[in-house]
Amino acid sequence: MSKIAVLGYGVVGSGVVELFYKNKESILKKAGRDADIKYILDIRDFPDSPYRDKFTKDINDIVNDDEVTIVAECMGGATFAYDFVKACLMKGKNVSTSNKELVAKKGAELLAIAKEKNCNFFFEASVGGAIPIIRPLHKCLAANDITYIAGILNGTTNFILDRMINENMDFSDALSMAQKLGYAEKDPTADIEGHDACRKICILSSLITGKHIYPENVYTKGITEISLKDVKFAEKFGAAVKLIASVRKLENGKIIPMVMPMLVPYENLISRVDNVFNAVMVCGDGIDRAMFYGRGAGMLPTASAVLGDVIEQLKTEGNGTDLAQTWVDCDNSEILDDYKESSFRMYFRLAGSDLSAPEGAEIVENGDEIVFVTEKMTISDAEKLEADFTAAGAEVKSKIAVLEI
Ligand code: HSE
Repeated sequence: MSKIAVLGYGVVGSGVVELFYKNKESILKKAGRDADIKYILDIRDFPDSPYRDKFTKDINDIVNDDEVTIVAECMGGATFAYDFVKACLMKGKNVSTSNKELVAKKGAELLAIAKEKNCNFFFEASVGGAIPIIRPLHKCLAANDITYIAGILNGTTNFILDRMINENMDFSDALSMAQKLGYAEKDPTADIEGHDACRKICILSSLITGKHIYPENVYTKGITEISLKDVKFAEKFGAAVKLIASVRKLENGKIIPMVMPMLVPYENLISRVDNVFNAVMVCGDGIDRAMFYGRGAGMLPTASAVLGDVIEQLKTEGNGTDLAQTWVDCDNSEILDDYKESSFRMYFRLAGSDLSAPEGAEIVENGDEIVFVTEKMTISDAEKLEADFTAAGAEVKSKIAVLEI
């Protein structure tokens, strides 16, 4: 019988335990192997838990127990989780994680250890919560050259923008509501500044290139400067403001990953993704495009993805490392192109007198403020245009790229 250890009994870890026992019979049938959870690691006490006999506070109980062959890491962060995952992989234990920070920062190193030790480091739950996206990318869609991925990879910011769009709430009220409902952390920086979405697009970028893309090298802008006015003018233009994480593969073989708020025209399904949901559009030379949609966060949705990995580990235990789900370390300057050379139509909102929109722009509003959407231009040209308007005495209140349909 295979023995499993769950690291962390917070929202995701407790969801993994709950879902495992709820569906144990069918999970084991699908895995084709008998298994049970032997340990749950947490520093807190859970004296009333039905699983109280499984708790340990000492990672060494797990690391040194040869019966444990599968570890589900649900702690989060890249400090203790990194040490513990590394120690488990070094012992040849298969690890599944929901921890995007860990995968985005340490993926290449942990994947290399897994390969050396003939085991697996899986992380389906790290991107898109319940949405299957990691395995489809390197299995079902493996025949494609993946040329573009774009989507909503952060549920908290999508919830905030949704409240702004549908309930006219301003940013700070919508953020407070997200915190009250338990979507946003007390310190919501990683969500609202785009770091969480950045980690996720780095993981997808690393998968499609086979090279580790590090978050600090990726242009990332969050939603803190989005005002209710922008949301409403976007509506008038026929678009929804969304935090979009994307990666484009260029003909020169390089890629441009980026995270920024964008105007998503209503013709694009991504504009309709509301609440805390996530969606990922994948374009490839065989499939044209495919959309993945579902709950991007939460206890059971994330647990579902972690357990999907655990089942895969059970099915393939002893078969060595899955080399399709891997990447290697690399100098990012060799593979990343300059994001400022990406072209988009650009939305501008300006205040000032005697202003006029550039030739070819579509005027959205021409009152106290002038709002327009330009023809396609590079980000670098949009910055020049902004500087020209500022030099002419205008106040540039917003500048947001439009996602191509
Ligand atoms: N904070 C993340 C989000 C949790 O809001 O999407 C899931 O990764």
